[in-house]
Amino acid sequence: MNQLFRALRSDRSEQGFDVSIVDRNVADLPEGDVLIRVEWSSLNYKDALSATGKPGVTRQYPHTPGVDAAGVVVSANDGPWKAGDKVIVTGYDLGMNTDGGYGEYIRVPADWVVKLPQEMSCRDAMLLGTAGLTAALCVESLLDTGLSPDHGEVLVTGASGGVGAIAVALLAQLGFNVVAGTGKADAEDWLKQLGASSLVGREELQAGVAKALLKPRWAGVVDTVGGDILMNALKTLRYGASATCCGMAASGELHGTVFPFILRGINLLGVDSVELPLDIKQQVWEVLASEWRLEKSEQLLAAEVSLMELVDWFPRILAGQVRGRVLVRVAS
Ligand SMILES: NC(=O)c1ccc[n+]([C@@H]2O[C@H](COP(=O)([O-])OP(=O)(O)OC[C@H]3O[C@@H](n4cnc5c(N)ncnc54)[C@H](OP(=O)(O)O)[C@@H]3O)[C@@H](O)[C@H]2O)c1
Repeated sequence: MNQLFRALRSDRSEQGFDVSIVDRNVADLPEGDVLIRVEWSSLNYKDALSATGKPGVTRQYPHTPGVDAAGVVVSANDGPWKAGDKVIVTGYDLGMNTDGGYGEYIRVPADWVVKLPQEMSCRDAMLLGTAGLTAALCVESLLDTGLSPDHGEVLVTGASGGVGAIAVALLAQLGFNVVAGTGKADAEDWLKQLGASSLVGREELQAGVAKALLKPRWAGVVDTVGGDILMNALKTLRYGASATCCGMAASGELHGTVFPFILRGINLLGVDSVELPLDIKQQVWEVLASEWRLEKSEQLLAAEVSLMELVDWFPRILAGQVRGRVLVRVAS
């Protein structure tokens, strides 16, 4: 199919990296089973890494980032999909080394595609995006350990970021007493509107790094930042409690001792939303559209931007300055 479309394109340049909006042809998209017209996408930390050429995300440039896409099937030659189906694609290789959601069309394997739940619009889905899917997986992992609201306070770190803010809102809606761990003192009112009962500052979360154990406080932790903050969170978990680990906004390293594990029986639960089997992704999206539908989802919105406007948001999210979610309007 010969069809011109608009896409954000990142490429190496003499200055380092250039991001621009270009015309592309559907015929030049990678091979795949399902051609999708993208309506909405979103901004995740990883998208900014890819768009600005940071190592370890995208190998080949020029490239169109965007790990999230929601839109309508144009044509399909495999799987259950037919023209007109509304779908979501997140993760796998989308936006990594396969052209992603920051273009008006994507072509992907049939087994990357999730049906858009009936109760959701494409915009609703991308207001959550990979961040929402990941937050839901973190919350589900904690619930699977038997955690319930009467057990005590649950800490969410990186609470003003995409994953963190959605985790705060989800946990609060499920009746938990949520403490928002954040570096943004000015986000207090907003985090409380999302459902946090109180805040704890980044300095406090980092205090006592040299100690093997700290005073137990948390019944559960959703960590999105890694490093010393995660290690301290493990040291402050109550006996037998669990923390989920999904991100590394602060650091990819974890230095500490085994004492929280062997003296307090705590658990560290890894969460991955990228390679997660498709049937589980579908189930989580259905739950996000129904029982866990967020009453306060619009409060998560940091900005709704065009592809052109999105360019300004890459440095902001890399600097940890974005509060909530950036929605990207892709269809012209
Ligand atoms: N495992 C997976 O499948 C998966 C899926 C999605 C995302 N992730 C990862 O999860 C992390 C969060 O993603 P996101 O999309 O929510 O990113 P984000 O919107 O950029 O949020 C990250 C938040 O972390 C905090 N932060 C930033 N720099 C920090 C630092 N140096 N020290 C301590 N805290 C810092 C900030 O919140 P405060 O100012 O409130 O502290 C920031 O808003 C990223 O590392 C991302 O790659 C993993």
